[in-house]
Amino acid sequence: MDHLSPISVSGRCWLLLLLLIIVMFPMSESVQSDIDCLRSIKESLQDPLDKLSTWQFNDIRAQTFYYNYTCSFNGVECWNNDENRIISIQLSDMGLIGEFPQGIANCSSLQGLDLSNNHLYGSIPSHISDMMPFVISLDLSSNNFSGQIPVGIADFSYLNVLKLNNNFFSGQIPQQLVYLQRLTSFRVANNLLSGPVPAFPNSLTFPPEIYANNTGLCGYPLDPCESGGESERDAFVSGLLVGWAVFFALSLVVGWFIPLDKLTINFIKRRWVMMTPRLQSLLSSHRTDNTMISMLERFATRMSFSELSEATDNFSENNVIAIGETGTTYKGTLTNDRCLAIKRLFHSTNLEHQFQSEIETLGRFRHKTLVQLIGFCHEFTDRFIIYKFMPNGSLHHCLFSSNINMEWPLRMRIAVGIAKGIAWLHQNRIVHRGISSKCVLLDENFDPKISEFGKATISLNGEFSLPSCYEEDIYAFGMVLLELITGKKHEEFINSSEGGDMFELISKLQATGEYDDGMCCFLRIAGKCVECDPGNWPSMVQVYQMLIGTTRREDSDTKNEIQFAD
Ligand SMILES: *[C@@H]1O[C@H](CO)[C@@H](O)[C@H](O)[C@H]1NC(C)=O
Ligand SMILES: *[C@@H]1O[C@H](CO)[C@@H](O)[C@H](O)[C@H]1NC(C)=O
Ligand SMILES: *[C@@H]1O[C@H](CO)[C@@H](O)[C@H](O)[C@H]1NC(C)=O
Ligand SMILES: *[C@@H]1O[C@H](CO)[C@@H](O)[C@H](O)[C@H]1NC(C)=O
Repeated sequence: MDHLSPISVSGRCWLLLLLLIIVMFPMSESVQSDIDCLRSIKESLQDPLDKLSTWQFNDIRAQTFYYNYTCSFNGVECWNNDENRIISIQLSDMGLIGEFPQGIANCSSLQGLDLSNNHLYGSIPSHISDMMPFVISLDLSSNNFSGQIPVGIADFSYLNVLKLNNNFFSGQIPQQLVYLQRLTSFRVANNLLSGPVPAFPNSLTFPPEIYANNTGLCGYPLDPCESGGESERDAFVSGLLVGWAVFFALSLVVGWFIPLDKLTINFIKRRWVMMTPRLQSLLSSHRTDNTMISMLERFATRMSFSELSEATDNFSENNVIAIGETGTTYKGTLTNDRCLAIKRLFHSTNLEHQFQSEIETLGRFRHKTLVQLIGFCHEFTDRFIIYKFMPNGSLHHCLFSSNINMEWPLRMRIAVGIAKGIAWLHQNRIVHRGISSKCVLLDENFDPKISEFGKATISLNGEFSLPSCYEEDIYAFGMVLLELITGKKHEEFINSSEGGDMFELISKLQATGEYDDGMCCFLRIAGKCVECDPGNWPSMVQVYQMLIGTTRREDSDTKNEIQFAD
């Protein structure tokens, strides 16, 4: 047996240190909960075909060094390829056996769930919509699910697709499903359902096949039910038809006996010619709007005006959280107590482009340093953009008009976070063009999230050259950094620097002795960002790396995110 040599002792120390680092490594909470979610799904299901063999959770190294290791799991899709935040779980046709996996509640950003063609049994949890509040598509078809379809399914706010066919569901279909305003695809064929089908609005009549092979469904579009509410509706419809028929017959008679003179006919013709272009333009603008809306729907959920009005208490002044250049932002509360930030753009055709740009950029590029886009609303002349609510408001507010004590380590962490976000944007060829402490929002942990993408430019085919186009953001970041270091608004620097020579101003600041070594390092980095000669400016990735380097040197205990996933 080996006895302990000095080398092996120091080896052990290193090992211990490594273990400590691994244990203390900060992993964002939501991502950890997504990992718990997958782990619990795997534990709750039998997997005789071994389809979930790629779902491995015991590789601590992978968990620590790859933020995205779950993204390669069979059937798991992430929001973006550099973090474990899960957008959809597709486990169709995998021979899985078990009950509905309750652990799914921990996948907090889930938008799609497909468990079709397995051997799952038991009933659906009644609070299923609280478990997966953001789900757009839910497919449980071709399983052995039984029991009633829970009324709680009607509480999904964003559900577009609901497939429950080929199961053993019994009882009635909840009428409340008509409240699923976004539902475009619905299937319940081949179950044991009975009673009236939901009276969906006319714009949303599903074909009769979707109800086929049940034990006794009735009501439009199937055969009418024996008695009950349906006959009332039929009476109303037939009453309406009779009314129109009488009116039509009367007008024929009147037209026959009172011939129109030439003048009247010409008048009608002229009116018609005058009306036509307006009618056409109205129709065509309606068409372009529709194309635009369906394009935007690829990036975010469409919400209705009434939904937003209800959430904000009819846009009450008490719910205003910010008034900006482009619109007013309200705090909204949904019926299930979830909070939203709802920005109502001012009425202006100039903002139409900003509206689209913001939704496209934030919807397409999702990252933990950017504010999370939830939806939009486009009705008549009203435009709304809906985000996740950020309880601490903007950085500008925290720095200059609140009582929050922003200690230096917190400021450092915020600076690094913003730099990381802008660097990530630039790597994805996006220029923000409006960086300021007002567009940086702080979440419940004071992690910064960049917002306001109305002026952003995306270069998908690299038509603008690096780095000249990114200068605008780098300079603006330098200003935010100065605000963070000094606690003064950037307007004050611009006024006090002679002829806008920021570099000289920064040298003076350093000389005052008010700032310690770490702050001076940050000051020097800010200086590099706002230097007179843009040719010498570092790229945002370099800025981020310099900041990280400084924080590490300054405080070796600071738990910072060392990896910069590209
Ligand atoms: C994880 O991230 C790395 C680095 O960003 C990337 O190369 C890899 O393809 C990603 N893996 C998956 C499964 O997306
Ligand atoms: C979510 O994860 C936490 C932590 O692992 C666990 O305690 C909790 O039971 C999970 N929730 C569900 C619904 O499984
Ligand atoms: C599912 O239902 C089928 C048909 O009734 C039955 O043969 C099968 O055993 C059931 N599977 C489970 C896991 O309950
Ligand atoms: C209804 O059941 C019959 C016989 O099993 C089948 O042929 C038909 O495809 C089913 N209809 C639908 C819509 O699934």
